[in-house]
Amino acid sequence: MSDDDLGQALPLPVPSAEMQARLTVRRSAPAQALTGPGPSPAEIGRILELGARTPDHGKLFPWRFVVMGAQSRAELAAALLPLADRQADPGKARKVLSKLTAPPLSILVVSTPVEGHKVPVWEQQLSAGAVCMNLEHAANALGYAASWITDWYSYDPQALALLGVAEGEQVAGFIHVGMLAEPPLERPRPDMAQKVVWRP
Ligand SMILES: Cc1cc2nc3c(=O)[nH]c(=O)nc-3n(C[C@H](O)[C@H](O)[C@H](O)COP(=O)(O)O)c2cc1C
Repeated sequence: MSDDDLGQALPLPVPSAEMQARLTVRRSAPAQALTGPGPSPAEIGRILELGARTPDHGKLFPWRFVVMGAQSRAELAAALLPLADRQADPGKARKVLSKLTAPPLSILVVSTPVEGHKVPVWEQQLSAGAVCMNLEHAANALGYAASWITDWYSYDPQALALLGVAEGEQVAGFIHVGMLAEPPLERPRPDMAQKVVWRP
């Protein structure tokens, strides 16, 4: 990054008990349990703006968003139904389509890596994953529950065509957003002693 690219000085981090408390209990929502009300258009804009404030090597912004309301997802699910019959477990493939249609809002995050760039494709894809996580945090910050999922239609070539995902692009995830009637249940978390090595 050259100095020419840099803008105003931003505030340094300060300890935030509120943010720590929130991160301590953050938990994805079951997508099929998400209900309305969903975010307003202004809130969706804010969620996208906050989500896009994500590290990426080379300032390539190697991702794009498709904001999907209820109508486009209902049409998509109907178009995916015949493809579900060709999956390894057609019954399950049909059932998971409810995760696509139930939430009031879904943001499709597409990884759009630039091939042959000095920044490896892997790093560009990692940035798309980071955007997904940041979108979840942003939705939570506005008071919504969120769920990051992929499911079979993120990998089926014909489904990808229906989603408008081009050659060389991948689905990083669907970020489903809405409200939960019941609090989510905790799930197993890693044993940090098995995951961390401390070096002097
Ligand atoms: C890249 C990615 C893909 C996922 N795909 C699916 C999926 O296809 N179906 C599903 O039920 N959950 C999917 N999940 C969600 C996880 O199964 C699980 O709900 C989530 O990681 C819970 O995380 P949390 O408890 O820290 O919020 C996916 C998560 C990630 C990160």
